[in-house]
Amino acid sequence: MEKKNLDWANIGFEYVQTDKRYVANYKDGKWDEGTLTEDANIVMNECAGVLQYAQTVFEGMKAYTTEDGRIVTFRPDLNAARMVDSAKRLEMPVFPEDRFVDAIVQTVQANAAYVPPYGSGASLYIRPYMFGINPVIGVKPADEYQFRVFTTPVGPYFKGGAKPITICVSDFDRAAPHGTGHIKAGLNYAMSLHAIVTAHANGFDENMYLDSATRTKVEETGGANFIFVTKDNKIVTPHSDTILPSITRRSIMYVAEHYLGLEVEERDVYFDEVKDFAECGLCGTAAVISPVGKVVDHGNEICFPSGMEKMGPITQKLYETLTGIQMGHIEAPEGWLKVIE
Ligand code: PLP
Ligand code: COI
Repeated sequence: MEKKNLDWANIGFEYVQTDKRYVANYKDGKWDEGTLTEDANIVMNECAGVLQYAQTVFEGMKAYTTEDGRIVTFRPDLNAARMVDSAKRLEMPVFPEDRFVDAIVQTVQANAAYVPPYGSGASLYIRPYMFGINPVIGVKPADEYQFRVFTTPVGPYFKGGAKPITICVSDFDRAAPHGTGHIKAGLNYAMSLHAIVTAHANGFDENMYLDSATRTKVEETGGANFIFVTKDNKIVTPHSDTILPSITRRSIMYVAEHYLGLEVEERDVYFDEVKDFAECGLCGTAAVISPVGKVVDHGNEICFPSGMEKMGPITQKLYETLTGIQMGHIEAPEGWLKVIE
């Protein structure tokens, strides 16, 4: 199969339309068999549930080319399970987990020419999503839904790749106790847009959200979880019921403990202790592991000892081990890689 002629090393995190996408429809209480289509557009009623009351959930994952030329995805079963949790919280029908993984495989296979070559630094981002499509005017769940998967080749989420970023403590809240912070619903991202535009306008790359109940604990950013490294090389990540349970973060914690022999802790992380950490990073499918060099809290700067030039040494080790597993040159734990072809 011949690859598309794209400038792989220089693509950003933007939508590039690829050849095929997967579509399945839910009507009269059941999903149809689903199909691949070339049509990237969706026609729906003006009163569709997704347009009026934001009834939509999504996932994000990537396909990689390994050193020996296979195309793989990383732990798609966990994305399938998380989408079930998201759908249930928004009163949407569940898309069966085995069918979710099959839809990913079909869509990636159909767009194999867009999976960036090994070593390019790019990957094929996969976006599964589901939304209420029939007219809904009273506030209630839709009766009909569409599940889709499209792909788009991407490079680094933050311009500059592995260069440390600067983030600010947001004045806005991302998630409420008992709200929807733990699921991947479009509404969580809509309400973060003003906060991210404000952060960018003030010269920051991202927001650090604190817990909305007490504003004393670190939660996450708009699109990634946090990992911190203590001065004695322990990996610490915030525990919270109102953050997205990142698959990357769960994988990093496993890798830190079982591959690198580091101590790991998932616990409340108070903002007051951030100044004592040696390294800080954002982790997620899009972010991979993006080092944070500085956190600014209303003019007070916290500069991590790892600095603004490169990743700290432990973050670097985590990054190399995680991406080594994803790209197939470090042996993956059983079941982590799904070989597509
Ligand atoms: N937190 C938020 C709010 C996200 O949008 C994402 C991205 O998916 C993550 C964390 C990271 O999750 P994952 O590692 O599963 O991609
Ligand atoms: C992902 O990492 O897949 C996400 O969905 C985050 C988003 C900000 C791009």
